[in-house]
Amino acid sequence: MQNKRKKTGFPENFLWGGATAATQCEGAWNVDGKGETILDHCTAGDREHPRLVTENIDSRYFYPTHTGCREYERYEEDIALYAEMGFRTYRTSINWARIYPNGDDKEPNRAGIEHYRKLFEECRKYGIEPTVTMTHYDIPWNLCVKYGGWANPKLIEFFLRYARTLFTEYKGLVKRWLTFNEINFGTVTYGEIVTSGIIPASGNLYIDDPDVTSEELSRRFQALHHEFVASAKAVTLAHEIDPENQMGCMMCGFLYYPLTSRPEDAAAAQKDMNIWNYYCMDVMCKGKYPYWAPRFWEEKGITLHITDEDLEILKKGTVDLITFSYYKSDCSSAEAAKDLGKGTNFGLPNPRLKKTQWGWGIDPSGLRYLLNEFYSRYEKPMMIVENGQGEYNEIGEDGKIHDQGHIEYLREHIRAMKKALEDGVDLIGYTTWSAIDIVAASTGEMKKRYGFIYVDADDEGNGTYDRFRKDSFYWYKRVIESNGEDLGDDERGE
Ligand code: BG6
Repeated sequence: MQNKRKKTGFPENFLWGGATAATQCEGAWNVDGKGETILDHCTAGDREHPRLVTENIDSRYFYPTHTGCREYERYEEDIALYAEMGFRTYRTSINWARIYPNGDDKEPNRAGIEHYRKLFEECRKYGIEPTVTMTHYDIPWNLCVKYGGWANPKLIEFFLRYARTLFTEYKGLVKRWLTFNEINFGTVTYGEIVTSGIIPASGNLYIDDPDVTSEELSRRFQALHHEFVASAKAVTLAHEIDPENQMGCMMCGFLYYPLTSRPEDAAAAQKDMNIWNYYCMDVMCKGKYPYWAPRFWEEKGITLHITDEDLEILKKGTVDLITFSYYKSDCSSAEAAKDLGKGTNFGLPNPRLKKTQWGWGIDPSGLRYLLNEFYSRYEKPMMIVENGQGEYNEIGEDGKIHDQGHIEYLREHIRAMKKALEDGVDLIGYTTWSAIDIVAASTGEMKKRYGFIYVDADDEGNGTYDRFRKDSFYWYKRVIESNGEDLGDDERGE
């Protein structure tokens, strides 16, 4: 057999870009007919203080989604900046409550539809293809309160109504859709169940309750099942409305290494990879639950209502594309294997890795590892739709923002992607997290900055919200111009 392998570099049409999410960037939480989402009820927090979910909007607290980085009003300016960097795609999300304010409305809100139309047209004006997440944690509040979130199968119908509106209204403008952001995150981690529209009884955004009852677990995993069915139906519908639609699942890319070379630790890492990644990915990519799922349900006392019709829907509605976020890796050990129920603490820290300012283990070679891992299992095209590090940035005395940390982090991850491409992985694009400074999802902080563009705003919503190009802005522009060849190894970003 002839060896035809040697391909180097990024494909010519590689989709370089950046990402955001509606609730973290838009602000304008109660204008133009928009309804409230569960995230509009989440207060700001920080590393020591969890965000709270309050029943009413309480004037004693600051709610960061209410301001975001004011992208709703400033999207033209932002997209012009993305175009200046040379973005080929912009990943953002649609806020469900702008389109269906209460989630169960019969008719959509025209003002919301028109806002996103203008935004997507603005992207297309510069040749930027939108990559659009349909739900990035923003479930209409009414669906949470009145129906109990995704635990209620009625949400499948409401989501499909929303999906039909999006696919019809934006036909031709948007061709790449991701159904649920990081679907493996909320339920499977027992952590942010708000992502399933379930209001945590504890009132904390992160509920760290290893002693959760099997009844409660059943409710959460049933909610996840309903999301799977809704996603699969949306995939089928999108293909019917426009065969050119490319439908993706969006996963949080969890990577676990065994903490030591002991076989027991390797088994713990395998179990974590299975539960945290493949429980959801197998359903969305292969159209069926993994073979070990029944044993897992039994061990946890989880009872689910899954019909034969559901199983057919899942089989039919597998995704075309795998997209995932990648930030860090962690370790697993047999001793610490309480497996689930870890809240924000997703695993054991790897003692060999440097950490970001927020304590996340920096592991670029893990990205190559995970790309190969996922590709060998599914052999579908892939796109990394979030990757970056949160850091403190400030405007220096020279008036510039020297965010060398971002540059170094991204450079090494781009190198890892290049190696994965050379391995033969079918990687079609990369959108960094985030395109611009936005509100952090876990803590609600503005000072945890990920963007190429600095936004003059603090954690309480003070500031001009003016935009400033960071060093990484100029650096990324060169990366894109050179299609990933010039990683600016010896220079600063300017
Ligand atoms: C991902 C989410 O989990 O991580 C984003 O999809 C989030 O919404 C990102 O912003 C980074 O996390 P954080 O908490 O630092 O914003």
